[in-house]
Amino acid sequence: MSATAAGGSICIAGAAELLRPPEEGLEHIRGAHADAMRLDGGDLFVREGRIAAFERDRDADVLVDARGCTLLPGFVDCHTHLPFVGWRAGEYERRVRGVPYAEIARAGGGIGASARALREASDEEVLTQSTSLAREMLAAGTTAFECKSGYGLSRDGELRSLALAAALGDRVEQATTSTALLAHAVPAGHSAESWMDEVEAMLPDVLAGGGVSALDIFVESIAFSNAHLERLGALAAAAGLALHAHVEQLGCHRSVPVAVAAGARSVDHLSQLHADDVAVLADAPCAAVLLPGAEFLGAEHRAPGRALVDAGAIVALATDANPGTSPVVSLPLVIGLAVRLYGLSTREALAAVTLNAAWALGLEREHGSLELGKRADLVLLDEPADQIAYRFGRNPVAATFIDGRPVHVRPDAAWRIRAR
Ligand code: NIG
Ligand code: FE
Repeated sequence: MSATAAGGSICIAGAAELLRPPEEGLEHIRGAHADAMRLDGGDLFVREGRIAAFERDRDADVLVDARGCTLLPGFVDCHTHLPFVGWRAGEYERRVRGVPYAEIARAGGGIGASARALREASDEEVLTQSTSLAREMLAAGTTAFECKSGYGLSRDGELRSLALAAALGDRVEQATTSTALLAHAVPAGHSAESWMDEVEAMLPDVLAGGGVSALDIFVESIAFSNAHLERLGALAAAAGLALHAHVEQLGCHRSVPVAVAAGARSVDHLSQLHADDVAVLADAPCAAVLLPGAEFLGAEHRAPGRALVDAGAIVALATDANPGTSPVVSLPLVIGLAVRLYGLSTREALAAVTLNAAWALGLEREHGSLELGKRADLVLLDEPADQIAYRFGRNPVAATFIDGRPVHVRPDAAWRIRAR
């Protein structure tokens, strides 16, 4: 593939649409600000991997002909369960025939099944599958993503899972973050309470590796409670880590006020969010991460996406890529689902997979918007932005750039990229 070193320069010229935030320096985009994002035509010049100007420079080392195309900041997938190994298609067939997720989980399927697969696989098997998924994500425009542990289900298993997340980060083109999802399911032989004691005890070892930036928990009748969420929040705060929480997915437990009070950076799922708790997120410094792939494939309830945007919440969208509830890695597909299911505009959905998703991961200074000085992580689409959702299921990504390097170019778009 033709590529310029991060030290070179690249000019993307003549884009029909180029997404810019309504003003410079925003950390995230709330409410009506999303629809104020600009999608005017334009050029972009990159030097040494950074966005250097919004103008054409014919002397650039690499010239990209972007006529008829849309240029966006690279997509950020702020909720995935990579690395994992194996799939659970058999479970999906049972679920579509009406067997509830909780029943499958209680019968030894669900998270427990993926934990067994992880235990039985070699590191290389896990990394091979996960690297191949990351490559699919690149082809769908994802330039940064979150990894989670959570299929370890033992002290050593969780530490191995976090080590695999770090190894995956070294292998893939994308920037990655590592979240320790230490309270995902209650391991056999433990109560939720005794496992939380174990989580607290293993935390120094989890932190010793240095790569973990957040903790996470699954609050649900089949997993952990609001009291455990509070406890994990205190541990995260003491360790200087962010807190993410899987809440209100299968049932309504009024976990959002608890998570926000515990300082959560994001609350994820929200499919059964109580109507009164929309207001809690209206101006909270906490992202509402919606996962319409899991909702669609699981026939779950639908998060109040429209109401959350209208209330002014920091709404993000992610794939939830995992072998159980959402074997989905494409953010264009997630945009299509979100626009249809929540009634979002294209700009609202784009804010949700770019700057707001970057903010949820603490990456907003470098990622998530086309602004001077930010990393030149870019997605070039071969169609207008409003066709992403409308031509549902089609991958519109012609090329993906990281640090100004073309790291994925669809063969029929190769002619657009010329080295001088
Ligand atoms: O985000 N809800 C908890 N965790 C995952 C599912 C994990 C699995 O089923 O393997 C989720 O949906
Ligand atoms: Fe998840």
